[in-house]
Amino acid sequence: MSSPNFVMEEPALLAELGKVAGLHVLDLGCGDAALGAMLLQQGSASYLGIDGSREMVSRAEETLQDARGTVALQNMEELSLPAESVDLVVSRMALHYLEDLDAVLRSCRAALRPGGRVCFSVLHPVITSSDVQASPDQPRGSWTVDDYFVGGARERVWMGDTVTWFHRTAEQYVGALIGAGFTLTALRECEPEPGRFGGDEAELARRRRVPLFLLLSARAT
Ligand SMILES: C[S@@+](CC[C@H](N)C(=O)[O-])C[C@H]1O[C@@H](n2cnc3c(N)ncnc32)[C@H](O)[C@@H]1O
Repeated sequence: MSSPNFVMEEPALLAELGKVAGLHVLDLGCGDAALGAMLLQQGSASYLGIDGSREMVSRAEETLQDARGTVALQNMEELSLPAESVDLVVSRMALHYLEDLDAVLRSCRAALRPGGRVCFSVLHPVITSSDVQASPDQPRGSWTVDDYFVGGARERVWMGDTVTWFHRTAEQYVGALIGAGFTLTALRECEPEPGRFGGDEAELARRRRVPLFLLLSARAT
């Protein structure tokens, strides 16, 4: 069974990113920087990944075997880059961990050159609204949407640790971008890509039931 990121989020993200050759890229919450390696292979001028986890940063350093790629141990909330030094800010599945998304988007806006872009994916708001735990033993067959208009922290115990994320409505994500000085250029709900299911029609049908990811693209104005 393929990961939902592979069959849903990645195709939408790559389509939205388009050509990246020659671009200076910043990746917020870069994880192992697998995306960085891909973007550098596609000709990005530079890639800077930042992540707040020491373990992820060391994995990213192993991934980035290219002088154009760097990684820094840093929380997104402390982002401070020279003004107008970046062409593209990307972030995959990390911004829903931020309590103050507005401040981080304003920092991104300041770091972007005029006309630069931001493109990020988050867990879809219908998924982040409720912290009901799925059974770990079998593929999920039901989802709960609740307290959708009650923004704020949600918690779940995951592999022995408590994970906290911050729920926002789709409207609030779009409002945060506009408020930070961006013009929205795309909103995608990462519909499953049939060609990535290896012919597993039952899994394709399951993934067509509920949106898992929200992807937004915007231009600095
Ligand atoms: C779900 S992972 C996604 C990693 C990567 N973007 C990917 O798609 O594979 C979320 C990442 O965000 C990082 N992260 C979460 N909150 C952060 C924060 N406030 N500042 C920096 N990194 C953060 C985590 O350490 C983790 O590596």
